[in-house]
Amino acid sequence: MDDKKLIELAIKARDTMTYTPYSHYNVGAAVEMEDGSVYCGGNIENASLTPTNCAERTAIFKAVSDGKREIKKIAVVGDSHYTYPCGVCRQVIKEFSKNPRIIVANSLTDYRVHTMDEILPFAFGPEDLEDK
Ligand code: THU
Repeated sequence: MDDKKLIELAIKARDTMTYTPYSHYNVGAAVEMEDGSVYCGGNIENASLTPTNCAERTAIFKAVSDGKREIKKIAVVGDSHYTYPCGVCRQVIKEFSKNPRIIVANSLTDYRVHTMDEILPFAFGPEDLEDK
């Protein structure tokens, strides 16, 4: 899917799919899997704070629970200027991708594209457990 279309879905997710009564900070993510399927999600907060689930993980876990395992592209849109995936989400993207296109957007025309290595260098991933 075209980058702009995925960003459009992430913006829609930010505007309609979040549960943020505590921070009021909304984030949306749209993830395209290798088979072309697309999943969207928003951040889901909790009164106890730590159970909060970021938008990226909501979208990715929807895909994984549907049997999908490989992310092709992910677009993230938040309430501030360039909302980057947090450390935990970076690790989750790593788990379910080989060479993902990571799009961090402010708008349909203002966005950055990153590789996994750029946002999580020297990562620990599933392959480390294979060459034990
Ligand atoms: N958040 C995300 O959903 N994704 C990120 O990459 C950064 C942070 C959420 C978690 C929490 O609900 C709110 O933003 C403020 O931290």
